[in-house]
Amino acid sequence: MAGSSTTATTPAWLIDLHPAQADLEALVLAGMARQPRQLPAWLLYDAEGSRLFETICEQPEYSLTRTEVALLESSAAQIATAVSGAGKAAAPVVLEFGAGNARKASPLLRALAPPAHLALDISRTALHDTCELLRGAHPQTEVLGVCCDYGSVPALPPLPALAGRRRLGFYPGSSIGNFDGDQARELLMQFRRLLGADGLLLVGVDQPKAVQRLEAAYNDAAGISAAFALNLLTRLNRDLAGNFEPTAFSYQARWQPEHSRIAMALVSREEQCVTLAGRRWQFQAGEPLITEYSVKYTPESFTSLAHSAGWLPLQRWSDAKGDLSLHLLGQADFP
Ligand SMILES: C[S@@+](CC[C@H](N)C(=O)[O-])C[C@H]1O[C@@H](n2cnc3c(N)ncnc32)[C@H](O)[C@@H]1O
Repeated sequence: MAGSSTTATTPAWLIDLHPAQADLEALVLAGMARQPRQLPAWLLYDAEGSRLFETICEQPEYSLTRTEVALLESSAAQIATAVSGAGKAAAPVVLEFGAGNARKASPLLRALAPPAHLALDISRTALHDTCELLRGAHPQTEVLGVCCDYGSVPALPPLPALAGRRRLGFYPGSSIGNFDGDQARELLMQFRRLLGADGLLLVGVDQPKAVQRLEAAYNDAAGISAAFALNLLTRLNRDLAGNFEPTAFSYQARWQPEHSRIAMALVSREEQCVTLAGRRWQFQAGEPLITEYSVKYTPESFTSLAHSAGWLPLQRWSDAKGDLSLHLLGQADFP
């Protein structure tokens, strides 16, 4: 399972482009200076965060993963046809952004049989374990891992597996929702740069639904979502010499209809002062530290976002309840 082991030596198929400590510190300082305070969502994913995310996916309230896996399984053959033009074009290499345990890649890899699968993830241990699993399960595909922030990595390494091959980006889990407004458009433009002018992109997008369902999905009764958010404080204490007291914060997940998003936050229970990265930070009682957003898009609002980033909607698959869509995007000059 993702996040369950550590790597004694880094294998050749795992390329480490993780942001440097100084970059991490700069990001955290910038986020702490914002109003309200907000840290990049990827900081939630250290080894323990990745493990807790896997447990969130198993909670009865969090149906997104089950729905998306079922949709991928039922649509994989159609997706493969749409991607490779009914077999006229060679299968592209797949670049999976934020692979996690890559449970969603397998239906695609079976249907497409791509020459290579490049898993990108910020969580080193999760990525290592995931690639090991995929390498065993899909021996016909060359599986490689890149540990990086996919939002800021300037380019992919010049890997022979990518040379001269069309690229299909795969971005499941509605992770696009972690990026707000302009950031989401920037990210889709970044994917265009990484995928190239003839690249395609398959994105899993969670849609708005009843508020009670949405809030329960991000605040499960077993308290795993809360533990996941609170683990951020433990990580900051460890990696940036912080002294957060996790019990002095409570977890909240609230639907904000004006932004069509769930806002997840750790709320200070009292007025307090915290040391982090060599500085002191004052929190008022009730002051939030935003850990992540989850923006929900209708098919129309996502299509409009994709257009604004230069992507052309090609085809869409949805589950019967209309909870989630898989959008296949291309670029204007390359059908
Ligand atoms: C919400 S989980 C989704 C995992 C999986 N794709 C799924 O759909 O179940 C997000 C995954 O993306 C990774 N991740 C989040 N932000 C990232 C970033 N900026 N760059 C690289 N990986 C990131 C996390 O480590 C985690 O594995």
